[in-house]
Amino acid sequence: MANEKEVALVTGAGRGIGLATTKRLLEDGFHVVMVDLADEPLATNAAALKAASNSVEHHALSITDRPAVAKLIASLPRLDVLVNNAAVFWDGKFDAVTEDDFRQMYDVNVVGTFVMAQEAAKVMKRGARIVNVASRAYLAGYAHSPYITSKAGAVGLTRGMAIDLAEKGIFVNAIAPGLIETDMFRSLTPERQAELIAKQPTKEVGQPEDIANGIAFFASPRTRNVTGQILTLDGGRSMGISIY
Ligand SMILES: NC(=O)c1ccc[n+]([C@@H]2O[C@H](COP(=O)([O-])OP(=O)(O)OC[C@H]3O[C@@H](n4cnc5c(N)ncnc54)[C@H](O)[C@@H]3O)[C@@H](O)[C@H]2O)c1
Repeated sequence: MANEKEVALVTGAGRGIGLATTKRLLEDGFHVVMVDLADEPLATNAAALKAASNSVEHHALSITDRPAVAKLIASLPRLDVLVNNAAVFWDGKFDAVTEDDFRQMYDVNVVGTFVMAQEAAKVMKRGARIVNVASRAYLAGYAHSPYITSKAGAVGLTRGMAIDLAEKGIFVNAIAPGLIETDMFRSLTPERQAELIAKQPTKEVGQPEDIANGIAFFASPRTRNVTGQILTLDGGRSMGISIY
């Protein structure tokens, strides 16, 4: 590893927004540590990037597995940026949500984010940055109360960490994406996708690169003195325009 480069660890990097973020951070000159739950498609996508750059590595582990997370972070020569992007999502009306669904989503989206950030903060130096990927859904949404709760949790965690880590010089911010065309979005029925797109002021679904660009802003060593902020990148949906 070229340890004169700043090192960024991206979770959920095997596909979607995490993969787009990896590409963007490589362009920005970081050494990128890609983390995802399963070896595939992580390994295949990492191999394609390694063909063009020796500044990328990949590791299959769960963000909820503290010993594995701690071991990986301890193996890195430095850690300048953590992008807490991995999460799970599924639809379901409140009446049908099981306690198990609720706990499972909370475990990955909130506890996993917490575990990653806590282990990262142990080794981070002044000026390091943590970027949590929340969701516009933290505000509200139809038929996904566990997801809304977990993303409101990610926002709360961002703000709490920003205060507690400020004196260590670690900046903590979050991105709240709206509809983005990834496997997560494609897991919805075509009818539900069309219904959600119709509510967008832009009438468009965003692309993973749109979110990667926002993450890159918070991840940049040039972005100083910004912490505890939530940047919503949702095609204007959070303005509430669809209700007028
Ligand atoms: N796609 C959207 O419309 C949308 C909207 C708002 C917010 N987001 C958020 O953006 C982020 C990325 O979403 P995406 O659309 O790229 O989703 P995705 O499902 O395509 O990718 C998520 C990745 O996280 C990984 N992951 C899940 N659990 C994990 C675990 N325990 N440990 C390690 N990795 C794990 C998955 O394997 C997957 O590769 C998520 O936090 C999501 O909640 C997405």
